Amino acid sequence: MEKSMFNFQVDEKRCIECGECALECPAGVITMDTTPQFNEDGGCFRCQHCLAVCPTGAVSILGRNPDESQALAGAFPSPDQMTALIKGRRSVRRYRDEEVAADLIDELLDCAGHAPTGVNAQGVLFTVVKERAVMNALRQEIMERLGRLKESGGLPEGFVGQYMGGAVKGWLEEGRDIIFRGAPHLLISSAPKAAPCPAQDTLIALTTFQLIAHARGLGTVWDGMFMMALSLCPDLAGRLGIPEQHLLGYAMVFGWPAVEYHRTVQRGPAQVNVVS
Ligand SMILES: Cc1cc2nc3c(=O)[nH]c(=O)nc-3n(C[C@H](O)[C@H](O)[C@H](O)COP(=O)(O)O)c2cc1C
Repeated sequence: MEKSMFNFQVDEKRCIECGECALECPAGVITMDTTPQFNEDGGCFRCQHCLAVCPTGAVSILGRNPDESQALAGAFPSPDQMTALIKGRRSVRRYRDEEVAADLIDELLDCAGHAPTGVNAQGVLFTVVKERAVMNALRQEIMERLGRLKESGGLPEGFVGQYMGGAVKGWLEEGRDIIFRGAPHLLISSAPKAAPCPAQDTLIALTTFQLIAHARGLGTVWDGMFMMALSLCPDLAGRLGIPEQHLLGYAMVFGWPAVEYHRTVQRGPAQVNVVS
């Protein structure tokens, strides 16, 4: 039984000495000396591949019990199912006036938290609006602030000003919410600027959330309009609880869709540049 500050442990009764954990370790901190040996100073970055790859569940690290991991044999969706999910996902812009249960949101976020991060930094923070009342208050505040900016001539020239001006007009004249598309929930991803790949990590996390959300029958849409609104209300990110030292990744709204798609869209072939 080996113990370290990473709490790497091998159950010798289960270990078949196959060496998979040592072969797999991306940091090369595990070597085989009959049973696996762990180098505490070798630069382990806590990816848990040793635990995941062990065929007999003999390896534990970071206090994780391998028996509590989900077994994977036969558990992945088929390629056809995965393709249908990816091609059949649409940006949903009509939502039912209904909250998504908080425990389902937690489950989706937990799943999205399994997205890869550069050097396994796992620093992505999900800032989420779970209650419709909170969402409605945020919607109201943003529309009012943009309205005041528009009235005072404070909207910037160009693209952002045009879109935000249009959003205010749609809200005031028709009660149309083109910033949040009437969705009951908002999700923002951010990550410490000091992380190795914060921009990429935040976007991969939201992409992962989007796919699992659609697999559960929810709708989502990436929310560039809200990102523009945020850029015009610089205090807001902090007030929503996003730490100052975080890079703001992106935002997405989600909820139960009030629309059903019966087929995929058809797109041209992927643009591919083959290097020869
Ligand atoms: C980065 C990004 C920002 C987006 N911002 C908005 C937005 O603010 N409002 C909106 O209705 N759709 C937004 N979309 C959705 C795109 O318009 C949509 O993905 C595109 O039209 C293709 O449709 P599909 O997602 O149904 O395939 C955004 C998409 C991305 C990737």
